[in-house]
Amino acid sequence: MRHAAITGYGMAVPQKVLSNADLERMVDTTDEWIVSRTGIRERRVVGTGDTTTSLAVAAARNALTVAGLTADDIDLIVVATCTPDQFVVSEACLVQAQLGGTAAAFDVGAACSGFVYALSVASLYIQQGLHQRVLVIGVDTLTRFIDYTDRATCVLFGDGAGAVVLEASDQERGLLSIVLGADGTGSQHLFAPGWGALVPESAMLVSETRPYLQMNGQEVFRFAVRVMGDAAAEAVEKAGLALEDIAMFVPHQANKRIIDAAARRLNLPPEKVWQNLDRYGNTSAASVPIALAEAAHDGRFEEGDNLVLVAFGAGLAWAAGVVRWGVAGVPRLNQ
Ligand code: UT7
Repeated sequence: MRHAAITGYGMAVPQKVLSNADLERMVDTTDEWIVSRTGIRERRVVGTGDTTTSLAVAAARNALTVAGLTADDIDLIVVATCTPDQFVVSEACLVQAQLGGTAAAFDVGAACSGFVYALSVASLYIQQGLHQRVLVIGVDTLTRFIDYTDRATCVLFGDGAGAVVLEASDQERGLLSIVLGADGTGSQHLFAPGWGALVPESAMLVSETRPYLQMNGQEVFRFAVRVMGDAAAEAVEKAGLALEDIAMFVPHQANKRIIDAAARRLNLPPEKVWQNLDRYGNTSAASVPIALAEAAHDGRFEEGDNLVLVAFGAGLAWAAGVVRWGVAGVPRLNQ
């Protein structure tokens, strides 16, 4: 049986910090409101020279280093993003051009759930024997599409990238189960008009109205609290595990209150729940792989530990998976 073990991880965020104090000077908000309603204290935002591609490539290079591989060893690159540098070509091809190598490359679009969706796709390619070593990247630069006069959205988002390397292994490592879901009827609760191919409508929207991200926060909040706990619990059950078998819960970092509610639903103690949104805010598709990379770097779990990755976002879409960690000492197939 072929498994898709995670053998490398990495992350990258822009240098530029946007703190709650900075936002207090930009819109009618307070540090107290942002911290108590979201848990966010600061976020990283793209500055001069930062692009979706530059962040993705930096995270990918870190993941390759951990795996002890180079770009030439990779035979597929899958990038999850809703903020590619260009619509044509794919973000994955832009990344491949800078990384080097000749890997096949394509994007997956599922907004904040994109990385977990992409991980499931990439794992299947390996499990089916189509690919041997795959780079999976979650990256977004949503702050380029944020209206910094809209206090309801501008306090929430940051930019960044996270990446993992998946390799074929005969050890039971990597994704053990996956739960994917979507409810397109909820698309109006979190969306960005004017980025797409509705021409000439989109051109008019960009020039005459607001092309920015728009959100019905309370509706998304209610949806998130429900699906995060339910999808995670279903993924654990599908993996044939109990909640006590989970070493670490690695959720999408959108709102501390959403994460805490899901953790309570799953009866997980705080030390088993990774939270870093105080420093990065909501980085969309990058959120889960950044959290994973940080927790791994911090030594919060060991080889063989079971982790739950869970995300939700625009679509509305959601995804949860149980991953058995396997960075160290996992025998590879076909070295
Ligand atoms: O990846 C998925 C992305 N999206 C999400 O995860 C968003 C999910 N939703 C949320 O996280 C929360 O709904 C928010 C953090 C966006 C908002 O928190 P809330 O507790 O649902 O606040 P609310 O929308 O009910 O607003 C409460 C009050 C309102 O004022 P009034 O009408 O009570 O006078 C808002 O105008 O807070 C006001 N408000 C703010 N005040 C200060 C909204 N944003 C701000 C702000 N600073 N930044």
